[in-house]
Amino acid sequence: MVTKVFSPSKITFWFIISSILISGFLFYSSATIAETINIYSHRQPFLINPFVKAFEKETGIKANIIYSTKGLAQRMLAEGKRSPADVVLTVDISRLNVYVDKQLLLPISSEKLFKNIPAHLRGPKNDWFGFSKRARILAINTKRVGVDKIKKIEDLARPIWRGRICTRPGSHVYNRALLASIIAHNGAPVAEKWAQGLVYNLAQRPQGNDRSQIKAIFQGVCDIAIINSYYFGKLRNSKIAEQREWTKDVRIVFTNQGGRGNHINISGGGVAKYSKNKKLAIKFLEFLSEDKAQRLFTKINFEFPANPSIPYSKELLSWGAFSEDKLPINKIAELAPMAQRIIDRVGW
Ligand SMILES: [Fe+2]
Repeated sequence: MVTKVFSPSKITFWFIISSILISGFLFYSSATIAETINIYSHRQPFLINPFVKAFEKETGIKANIIYSTKGLAQRMLAEGKRSPADVVLTVDISRLNVYVDKQLLLPISSEKLFKNIPAHLRGPKNDWFGFSKRARILAINTKRVGVDKIKKIEDLARPIWRGRICTRPGSHVYNRALLASIIAHNGAPVAEKWAQGLVYNLAQRPQGNDRSQIKAIFQGVCDIAIINSYYFGKLRNSKIAEQREWTKDVRIVFTNQGGRGNHINISGGGVAKYSKNKKLAIKFLEFLSEDKAQRLFTKINFEFPANPSIPYSKELLSWGAFSEDKLPINKIAELAPMAQRIIDRVGW
């Protein structure tokens, strides 16, 4: 029988080797942990995945997406300091404001973000940033509505349009934000009168989403609809022939040109208050504000880039230039509760 005896030098050798291996493993795993961010997203995976892939490719940082349409703010509240969230992404200023109200976002300082994102598209404390813009526009049937017959959002309340307008319900965040912008510019009494006039002019009970308003124009239910700009791009470029057909005689109208500009909203995000990877989270937001990601917003979802130095895609260019309402976007969130009370009173 042969017994192996390790000499002290051999033991020292193996001790050193195993120490190197163990510390190497620990370093590797801590590096892996440090180089990962978790994104809590209200934006759908098909929209976010291309951004995440491009980010991972450029930086080597891995990004996990936790997607849900609702409940992520409550989840972050419940998780408290143990929350794994590093980044929050959502659409609409009212939804971003839920996170602001619950103090779930961290004010950050980033020269890149300050340079790329205009001041009216950021939180006043720099705790959120808009990365894409969407205009709430009018879609009109060109055979039934003269292109110069409607120029301002206020025109929707004129008696000439009685029974000719379609919209989704007023209490949807998109319409609530639109009304909030009218309150900001014209005052609450004028805004309420406008909402009343609009409701008088509806062709049918407010229903469906923005896409179905275009369908209703196609079906002859109404002649004018209020929609978000990107839905027009999505329908025009849809893989479904029937959806492309809905846009056949439809033109879009940017409102209040020559005046305050067309009301816009944003998709945006911020760094989670208890992020364990703040630097990486900021890096992700910076990535979203720069060329590659900004072009993706216009390519994938027909949204306008928030960074003014990014050119529009071909589809967006075909809609023509427009001027946007530069009202600080957080004003919309402030006035949203007042807008909702008006919506309830007029039955929109
Ligand atoms: Fe939408």
